[in-house]
Amino acid sequence: MVNGEIILKAKGLKKYFGIRRSISEVLARKPPRYVKAVDGIDFDIRVGEVFCLVGESGCGKTTTGRMIARLLPPTEGSLLYKPTRETLNKIPPGYADKDGYVDLSRKLPKKLDKLLRQEIQIVFQDPFGSLNPRMTVYNILKEPLIVHNIGSTESERREIIYRALTEVKLTPPEQFFERYPHMLSGGQRQRVAIARAMILRPTLVVADEPVSMLDVSIRAEILQLMLDMQKGRNLSYVFITHDLAVANYLCSRIAVMYLGKIVEIGPTDLVINNPMHPYTKALIAAVPEPDPKNRFKIREVPIKGEVPSAANIPPGCRFHPRCPYAMDVCRREEPPMIEVEPGHYVACWLHSKH
Ligand SMILES: Nc1ncnc2c1ncn2[C@@H]1O[C@H](COP(=O)(O)OP(=O)(O)OP(=O)(O)O)[C@@H](O)[C@H]1O
Ligand code: SF4
Ligand SMILES: [Mg+2]
Repeated sequence: MVNGEIILKAKGLKKYFGIRRSISEVLARKPPRYVKAVDGIDFDIRVGEVFCLVGESGCGKTTTGRMIARLLPPTEGSLLYKPTRETLNKIPPGYADKDGYVDLSRKLPKKLDKLLRQEIQIVFQDPFGSLNPRMTVYNILKEPLIVHNIGSTESERREIIYRALTEVKLTPPEQFFERYPHMLSGGQRQRVAIARAMILRPTLVVADEPVSMLDVSIRAEILQLMLDMQKGRNLSYVFITHDLAVANYLCSRIAVMYLGKIVEIGPTDLVINNPMHPYTKALIAAVPEPDPKNRFKIREVPIKGEVPSAANIPPGCRFHPRCPYAMDVCRREEPPMIEVEPGHYVACWLHSKH
């Protein structure tokens, strides 16, 4: 695949979680209720880009990431992924469309599922929780090699593990082989988690807040490491963060999520320097500004109140109860997503005819 080609297309992607009903609700035949964690989102990810999902807690970033990594099946919609040529050649007929895209939301045969799991990896927020505490670093890195039949002898695997640790700058690697996760610092643990994802040579990596649990002093190093690892590979990242400053530093494009929807999406410089959605403006205004010359120029009215529950989404524009610009139409109708400048889209009635 070449840089710029679309590797993943999400269309109308939804994930609803059922809410357990009480006996009285069942007896009263009340309809089932859902947490609408992701409620119909569309986006494309290109080869070699860092695509960012930003938004406040509970807006559906992790749920979206887990659907991409195939850890959660979507409730509705499609996730069209373009596998590598080697994988495409092994795909049974009927699973790829004429352009070579496979719908990750479908149930796939085991062999294809395994190939795709090798290509799409995820790095979690909490390396302590995501690494098996009873396994040494060597075995943590060896496990995916065994599952995916990479390396035919122990010495070949040892060589691959050695290179993987060198790449994440855990050197000399043999000093880390026999360590357990509790014998590592937070930053070292996250480096092991990154090595475990990268050892399979993935094409798409979902990184879910990979630095938010680390000390501020080492966050930049880990982010830089992730960027360095992209060089020379046609690797794409879906980077999940609630921190717009991190998104600005790292990402080529940003999608701003609010209560399960994307409200604004576009190239990072346009979204950061010319935000169109009142929610994006508020997020930018909330970024602490240590530098008086200010990185972000926008200073706007902060929004009021808390994010409503995803089990009880307001009608019309779901942001209207918190929006200082809400109009009548906002309370009634959901705003369409429109292109306001090339590649920059926003869903807000301030920018659409009504
Ligand atoms: N397994 C689940 N069952 C029920 N509800 C869930 C489940 N997973 C997530 N949710 C709900 O879905 C919504 C979106 O959650 P999600 O974890 O995707 O948000 P997020 O943007 O990653 O938030 P954070 O920044 O706190 O990590 C939340 O309301 C959450 O409570
Ligand atoms: S559609 Fe209306 S309520 Fe929603 S963000 Fe725009 S102005 Fe605010
Ligand atoms: Mg999350």
